[in-house]
Amino acid sequence: MKRLVIVSNRVPVPKEGLRPGGLAVVLKDLLARKGGLWFGWNGACHPDAAHLPPEIQKAEGVEYATIGLTPAEYRNYYTGFSNSTLWPLMHSLPECIHFERRELASYRSVNERFCENLLPLLRAEDVIWIHDYHLLPLAALLRRHGVRQPIGFFLHTPFPAPDMLATAPDGGTFLRDLLKADLLGFQTADDTANFIFAASRTAGAVTVDDTTLLFEGHKVRVGTFPVEIDPQTFAATAAAAMEHADLHRLAGSLAGRRLVFGVDRMDPTKGLDHRLAGYERLLHTYPARQRQVTFLQIAAESRTDVPSYQALRNRLEHQIGQLNAHCGQADWTPLRFLTRGSPRSTVAGYMRLADIGYITPLRDGMNLVAKEFIAAQDPENPGVLVLSRLAGAAKQLEAALLVNPLDHDGMADALERALAMSLAERRERWQACWDSIASHTALGWGLSFLDLLHKTTEA
Ligand code: F6P
Repeated sequence: MKRLVIVSNRVPVPKEGLRPGGLAVVLKDLLARKGGLWFGWNGACHPDAAHLPPEIQKAEGVEYATIGLTPAEYRNYYTGFSNSTLWPLMHSLPECIHFERRELASYRSVNERFCENLLPLLRAEDVIWIHDYHLLPLAALLRRHGVRQPIGFFLHTPFPAPDMLATAPDGGTFLRDLLKADLLGFQTADDTANFIFAASRTAGAVTVDDTTLLFEGHKVRVGTFPVEIDPQTFAATAAAAMEHADLHRLAGSLAGRRLVFGVDRMDPTKGLDHRLAGYERLLHTYPARQRQVTFLQIAAESRTDVPSYQALRNRLEHQIGQLNAHCGQADWTPLRFLTRGSPRSTVAGYMRLADIGYITPLRDGMNLVAKEFIAAQDPENPGVLVLSRLAGAAKQLEAALLVNPLDHDGMADALERALAMSLAERRERWQACWDSIASHTALGWGLSFLDLLHKTTEA
């Protein structure tokens, strides 16, 4: 019997009732079903962390092995190279990229520490699945230490176009490191194509067919695996939440106004400043909508030590104040902006109550919130999804109102169109979106990746 070993930067210890992040949501069921080991960072910093062995815990059939980071590693590997260099680079936001060589060095040495601490825990029958941009060198490091077990890697972010990748310090090395895995998974066909192009152009991999590369005598499969949610479960959670006191309070406070709703981490990739500008443009271009709508945006604080996130927060605070001061009236606040996270079930209820889901990242690997918004709707009276065409989810949710997240007039027009939309069109668009997510699950996503990894390595 094979054992699944998941490796990700952060091993989530879910806080009571709070909404866990994307990766944790999709991997939770897979590990619960298959059992196995989850290895990664425990989320804590300690000066002695580099000398302490992994802490092992067991819960509900899953073993968790976690290590800490030293304050310097947290600064250089996590806040630095992972989130100030790679994250904006992967999202093609060059103006947010900050690069320091010492941070790259720390990124490499933390990956080595992940490798050293993981090696003694591995068994011959393991299948190793590495996740995300924090761990690009890990497959190659494991191979260098003689690991022969199947290794899969999944990138949750977009994979950038070739020009953008050229701004990655040592981009060629990262490509060659990734090519030591057996299966590389991406969110969309465009991401996969970008990778194949870069791997053959920059790293010298040979394309065997659409999904197979040959690199240094090693066959690597490459595939598109859009991350999914559990739509039926989320729909039930949203319907049940309508009875919560929180929901009654929100509905009462709207006093009959239409609700526009967004929920994100406060992250420069999420396009929050442009989103607010698009909403403000709606109120100016279609003044009849003033007093008719309320925009509730939850933007939970995230990665607060990264300078570009701090700058975003400062910009947004200014913009929120201006919007409410300039557009508000004595008895109407156009925008409610919250930086505290909310319980997952409450958010599901807010989505169901909303007339419009307004989700406009500048770029996003997938954006599960968009799928959750569809799942949360009442099929008899569904809300309308206004979605950035640069989110991976837009490839599946083509019946949403797709917008350019930088085009304020375009976003204002889409909001107006959603507000004016007939019930028949709302139902038709919602049904098409629902049909594209209803038959998938997060578990199915994980199993399909592991199935191809198995076929690739058993062949
Ligand atoms: O979207 C990428 C991701 O790493 C998610 O998996 C995670 O929930 C989120 O970003 C926040 O990540 P962190 O707080 O670990 O930087």
